[in-house]
Amino acid sequence: MKDTFNRDIYYLRLSVTDFCNLRCKYCMPADGVEHMEHEDIMSVEEIEKVVRASAKSGIRKIRLTGGEPLVRKGIVSICEKVSAVEGIEEVCMTTNGILLPKFAKDLKAAGLHRLNISLDTLNPEKYADITRGGKLSDVLDGIRSAEEAGFTNLKLNVVLMGGHNDDEIVDFVNLTRDNAIQVRFIELMPMGQCQDWDHNVFLTAETVLEKVDGLQLERTEGVATLYKLDGAKGSVGLIRPMSNHFCPTCNRVRITSDGRLKACLHSEHEVNLRGLEEELLESTIREAISHKPQNFNLSTECPSQSKRYMNQIGG
Ligand code: GTP
Ligand code: 5AD
Ligand code: SF4
Repeated sequence: MKDTFNRDIYYLRLSVTDFCNLRCKYCMPADGVEHMEHEDIMSVEEIEKVVRASAKSGIRKIRLTGGEPLVRKGIVSICEKVSAVEGIEEVCMTTNGILLPKFAKDLKAAGLHRLNISLDTLNPEKYADITRGGKLSDVLDGIRSAEEAGFTNLKLNVVLMGGHNDDEIVDFVNLTRDNAIQVRFIELMPMGQCQDWDHNVFLTAETVLEKVDGLQLERTEGVATLYKLDGAKGSVGLIRPMSNHFCPTCNRVRITSDGRLKACLHSEHEVNLRGLEEELLESTIREAISHKPQNFNLSTECPSQSKRYMNQIGG
């Protein structure tokens, strides 16, 4: 459905858990986060109900997020149920990939269309550092399992961090020469604890174009501007939430795992959907979509107003 600013809102990012098997430095604070209680998290039935009401309000695409969606008990059944809802045309997931060797086949069978995988470095020591203990080889195994299970159009999400991974930009881009994947560089957003980080860590996506020769502009796809190296099988995406605000073409809303609808990622405003009967649920979702804010001009001087850490929103 259209919001007040004539944007077609058809994409719902649905967080199914705030738990994660990693603790990326930009996502969670050093001393950990308080996790929600089991009863605070929407049940599979509630998720299905919310998706049905969303579909009736014009949602056609669902992205399952977390925390880490694959640590959610019953995730395969959630995929199955969400895919089966009338009106839902595409179901995708953003994952850190660690558990894909266990789940990739079942997710494919459950109707999941696409996977985006977070991977910020190709160096095992740096990976352990950024994720606070993760094993790079687990993600690489995960990517292989996803390909073996038949997932195509895989996207790798690389959050750009000055002094952490800007020396690997060329290596990441080179992955696209022989692999039909999309490597996306994402500008770090000042949310949660990284609002207080040194400004040098925040790089603009232009850094990629400065460091890599021969990237040809192709087209825009969602929040990413796509580029390609001559003859490459894959592509390079630049996601610029800081330098090129994409609010005028925003097509999405979010629902947190405790059932709060966020019409804008960076606004503190949330609408509680818990416990509503189907009819009221649908009208509440419609109302929230129609009142989606026009924009939020994120910058290091104007950080996110969302009171949540990223693991509770799912990006
Ligand atoms: P596709 O369906 O493949 O287009 O996925 P996507 O890019 O929408 O989802 P993904 O989870 O891979 O998100 C990529 C990055 O874009 C993450 O860092 C998200 O936080 C960021 N992002 C996604 N949507 C928005 C948005 O509406 N506003 C802002 N500021 N960032 C967003
Ligand atoms: N800025 C930009 N991207 C972020 N992500 C998590 N936190 C941030 C942040 N502060 C990314 C993750 C994942 C996606 C859902 O959001 O790496 O790929
Ligand atoms: Fe987990 Fe994703 Fe947050 Fe990393 S960014 S800690 S993988 S939820």
